[in-house]
Amino acid sequence: MQERLKELQQEALNQINAAESLKELQEIKVSYLGKKGPITEVLRGMGKLSEEERPVMGQLANDVRAAIADKLEEKVARLEELEVEKKLANESIDVTLPGRPAQTGGMHPLTSVVETIEDIFVGLGFEVAEGPEVETDYYNFEALNLPKDHPARDMQDSFYITDDILLRTHTSPVQARTMEKFKGQGPVKIICPGKVFRRDDDDATHSHQFMQVEGLYIDENVRMSDLKGVLLEFAKKFFGPNQKIRLRPSFFPFTEPSVEVDISCVICNGEGCRICKETGWIEVLGAGMVHPRVLEMGGFDPKKYSGFAFGMGVERLAMLKYGIDDIRHFYLNDKRFIEQFKRA
Ligand code: DAH
Repeated sequence: MQERLKELQQEALNQINAAESLKELQEIKVSYLGKKGPITEVLRGMGKLSEEERPVMGQLANDVRAAIADKLEEKVARLEELEVEKKLANESIDVTLPGRPAQTGGMHPLTSVVETIEDIFVGLGFEVAEGPEVETDYYNFEALNLPKDHPARDMQDSFYITDDILLRTHTSPVQARTMEKFKGQGPVKIICPGKVFRRDDDDATHSHQFMQVEGLYIDENVRMSDLKGVLLEFAKKFFGPNQKIRLRPSFFPFTEPSVEVDISCVICNGEGCRICKETGWIEVLGAGMVHPRVLEMGGFDPKKYSGFAFGMGVERLAMLKYGIDDIRHFYLNDKRFIEQFKRA
């Protein structure tokens, strides 16, 4: 009997040593120390022992139980400790690890150029207006003195959606829409930046989608000299204080007289170079005095009011300002290009 108890003790201790989880230990505890366990079983046979042997054996059985219980407790504690250590190891933070830099975006160069243009004109008392990119034939052409079949419509190849609806080919329809809003009451002093669309083949200087900023000023006694003054001020604020401008006669159906406006070449300061084709001047916008027919159609009395209007290409201005040689860069979304303007 003694032998059997010793064996059981050794067996239990071995199993405890080998156990790797709390669950296993629980199972060992139940199987050795439980009521149906082998030690209890052995003690049941004590009745057959002599009076002298009985207490000795009882003592021994208790010792065996105690040894197993102690060992279990010790192992449970050890496993619990290990578990905590494992958890801590998993959760530990290596404060010396270099951080992952967050990727930050930047403003698109066209957006920031438009904001610069807006700031300059707001400083001159203009407000920013907007209009739809999908436009009716009426606002895009007719209200601007371009009736159907007018030959000047060929100047702008259009994306038509239906016979009567198209993607706007310029921002000028916002002139007509704004005039309607003001119901014949001046002054009107707005600029309108926005996307425009033309059926062009894309190359270094053409894009089927580009941006314009339209300007419109209607009041009593607005003159050509006001137009020139505003545009000169704009050119100086945008390109630098030494900037000059010149007006050349031109034609637009919505203005009379009409002009094309050049700035002195920003590359060679007017000396003559490849960019300005040796002329010293670069064309940047169209403008003129609002045609009396256009005023009338917009609900303004041309005897009382006069006005000037202009339209400039944003990409062209941006290309000149930053020395960009291909308009397609603005629309290819190449990060190497875009990122250069993060702080522009
Ligand atoms: N809408 C013209 C274009 O896209 C630009 C323009 C010229 C706008 C003269 C005007 C203007 O307001 O007066 O080519």
